[in-house]
Amino acid sequence: MEIQLWREILHPYEQAVSEIIVKFVCLRDEFRKNNIYSPIESVTGRVKTVSSILDKMQMKNIQFEHLEEEVEDIAGIRIICQFVEDIERVVDLIRGRSDMEILEMKDYLANKKKSGYRSYHVVVAYTVDTIHGPKKLQVEIQIRTMAMNFWATTEHSLQYKYKGEIPEHVSTRLQKAADAIFNLDNEMSQVRAEIIDAQNDMQIRTGIVKEILSAIENLYKVASEREVKKVQDEFYRIFRLNNLYELRRFQKQLDILSEGYRVQSVDSELHTSAEQ
Ligand code: GTP
Ligand code: MG
Repeated sequence: MEIQLWREILHPYEQAVSEIIVKFVCLRDEFRKNNIYSPIESVTGRVKTVSSILDKMQMKNIQFEHLEEEVEDIAGIRIICQFVEDIERVVDLIRGRSDMEILEMKDYLANKKKSGYRSYHVVVAYTVDTIHGPKKLQVEIQIRTMAMNFWATTEHSLQYKYKGEIPEHVSTRLQKAADAIFNLDNEMSQVRAEIIDAQNDMQIRTGIVKEILSAIENLYKVASEREVKKVQDEFYRIFRLNNLYELRRFQKQLDILSEGYRVQSVDSELHTSAEQ
């Protein structure tokens, strides 16, 4: 096997991983820009290393000709959610996509693995456009909460250390930790609505502050420095109150003030052109 050939095989998978990460990050940002809670918290991805592919081929006795169909996780995407409830919503988002076709689903939430592992896996068919034309390939998407991710990454490093033969006293501990993670996720779900509300408020506040500051900057072009300074001081005063309602009220007042200046400047423009 030549290095060059591996590069050629893996390149479309690298492309797929890069494209899919961008797509899910864009989805998340679209939710947030619209002040809608995003079930996606973060997205990562990787292409399996050659040594790890070789390990798997050897372990599962996979022939080279069947590599791409039998190793379904050459391209791997991981979507991290805040709450267990978000996982199903992410699966629905994937179901609704026109660029991904679901080939397989594994629900390790309903049926956790013996190790204690919990996650939702979806294998999709995804097409990348290469210099040789379109290429359809498999991508494994793992969807899990932050807590599940903490457990899985930690446990994975132990599996690596013990080469899959984790001693019983360690695996018993890991199962206990998995139970604690399960309880933690449940606890967080109980306060999900509260947390989502708080996060939404924070996002709305950030958006309003941004708009207010840009309105003040625009005002600076048409109003006197003294007036802009007064508006700015008032903004800082209201900001310190930490009250979304007051901030909104201030934004509306500022809108009216800005509109007044706009009308004035249109008026004076009309005057000047009428005089000419
Ligand atoms: P493989 O693809 O060979 O792993 O077999 P499979 O198709 O039956 O695997 P499965 O869908 O169950 O798991 C695929 C991936 O999930 C693995 O490569 C891991 O990333 C992850 N995974 C599965 N089980 C465990 C586990 O017990 N611990 C951790 N940390 N990760 C796991
Ligand atoms: Mg697999």
